[in-house]
Amino acid sequence: MPLYQSCRQIPYLILVPSSIVNSQDNVDIPAIAKYFNTKGRYEEVNPYLHEDILAVIKPVLPPASEQCQEIHLTAIIRHGTRYPTSRNIRDMQQLYKIVLHNASGEDSLLKEIQTQWTMWYTEDMDGRLVQKGVNDLKHLAVRLSKLFPSLISEEKLRGGFIRFTTSSKHRCVNSTLSFKAGLTELWAIKGTVFVHAMNDTLMRFFDQCKRFVQEVDNNGSAVVEVNKFKQGPEMSRVQEKIADRLKVLHSLITHAFYLCAYEFAIKSMNSPWCQLFDEDDAKVMEYASDLREFWKRGYGHDINSKSSCVLFHDMFSRLNKAAGEMMSGQQVSEAVTVQVGHADTLLPLLTLLGFFKDSTALTSTNYAAQTHRSFRTSHMLPYAANLVLVLYDCGGGELRLQPLLNEKPVTFPGLTGPRASMPLFQDVKEHYRGLLQGCDFETECQLFKHPT
Ligand SMILES: *[C@@H]1O[C@H](CO)[C@@H](O)[C@H](O)[C@H]1NC(C)=O
Ligand SMILES: *[C@@H]1O[C@H](CO)[C@@H](O)[C@H](O)[C@H]1NC(C)=O
Ligand SMILES: *[C@@H]1O[C@H](CO)[C@@H](O)[C@H](O)[C@H]1NC(C)=O
Ligand SMILES: *[C@@H]1O[C@H](CO)[C@@H](O)[C@H](O)[C@H]1NC(C)=O
Repeated sequence: MPLYQSCRQIPYLILVPSSIVNSQDNVDIPAIAKYFNTKGRYEEVNPYLHEDILAVIKPVLPPASEQCQEIHLTAIIRHGTRYPTSRNIRDMQQLYKIVLHNASGEDSLLKEIQTQWTMWYTEDMDGRLVQKGVNDLKHLAVRLSKLFPSLISEEKLRGGFIRFTTSSKHRCVNSTLSFKAGLTELWAIKGTVFVHAMNDTLMRFFDQCKRFVQEVDNNGSAVVEVNKFKQGPEMSRVQEKIADRLKVLHSLITHAFYLCAYEFAIKSMNSPWCQLFDEDDAKVMEYASDLREFWKRGYGHDINSKSSCVLFHDMFSRLNKAAGEMMSGQQVSEAVTVQVGHADTLLPLLTLLGFFKDSTALTSTNYAAQTHRSFRTSHMLPYAANLVLVLYDCGGGELRLQPLLNEKPVTFPGLTGPRASMPLFQDVKEHYRGLLQGCDFETECQLFKHPT
């Protein structure tokens, strides 16, 4: 089921743009910017942000939900825009060196790269958050506070009702700091430090799941479809076309695509690298990357999603706690939970919850048939991607749960009905009963799984 299509049917109400207008006009957007997978900008997923980076589209609550009050919000957020990792940078340097020194000819684009563009990435940049990434998280914090003003509020922050947890990676810690700075700057809070906890058990579960590491992450055979696709007809066509222009080896073409993506995400620059690829080429590059994510973090192998059991239970135990406090007339002690991690944190969890599941697997041979797939990391996982769950008290003991992905309402796959965008919390728990009663990280992740 193409989820994003069904989401569009949910009515929106456009709020008046904020007074602090942050116009990003004048940015020359490459035609292929929609296909950058996990290297894409958040603005390409929500294009209304091009006009005003602080604009929000308030999801209209389903009928008969007007009296519902939000009581808890959990946000699981990917870090903001970052530099390439050292390894990527080495590959890009290699590509650049060859294009600069070994390629010759009259190709105008080749000349443009050779004379107008200089390599400026250095290995020490190693995946660090860039200034754009700081802004990604600051702006997200402001928008979420506009969407849920009673929860993400100055009072709740000062009262200690907002809790922050982050992966220990510097880009995530700095993203967490940026999110907090977005709020403290918004409310002009000075001199108060709001703490965050680091927890890799939760936010980098993939490193700690032994079975995942052995069977998938360190196992070339687990991503065999990716390699087959790279040698298949679609990819060969793109590689030959570009290798011919740049006079470089086929294997380096991917880095030209990444260079285009990074130059755009980091510097808002439509670099000559982008001109190498037309839209059809970009779709092929996008598919190659989606294939990898599918087999490494998504539906390709069951352990990929199961590795996120610890985060799944953490989320539901908090929702249960908030629900319990609410029902017994107490104040909800953790009104907001902000958890900052990676694309590799979000994708297994989204997969566990059943989002973006197509009827057939992504393989090396079904590129054309997958044209309308819902598993599209360019839509799901740009920088600062986020899954937000909001628990509502609708009176008379009725609790409802609203899921948002990248600030857009989504429906839990398989949960349908007139109020599917905000189902009963009880129905959600019933829907995921199997996982709630099982999905034990220790059991799933041990190397030799004994039948029980
Ligand atoms: C590039 O040129 C250098 C020196 O001329 C040569 O040693 C090297 O093998 C060439 N590399 C490629 C990939 O053609
Ligand atoms: C994180 O932010 C701090 C403070 O703004 C800065 O000094 C540091 O260089 C940043 N680290 C990274 C890895 O971006
Ligand atoms: C990290 O989170 C898990 C799951 O909620 C929890 O059991 C563990 O105690 C936390 N670790 C630290 C160091 O806080
Ligand atoms: C590697 O992956 C293949 C394909 O999924 C699987 O059959 C094999 O058992 C895996 N190897 C290890 C060591 O887990």
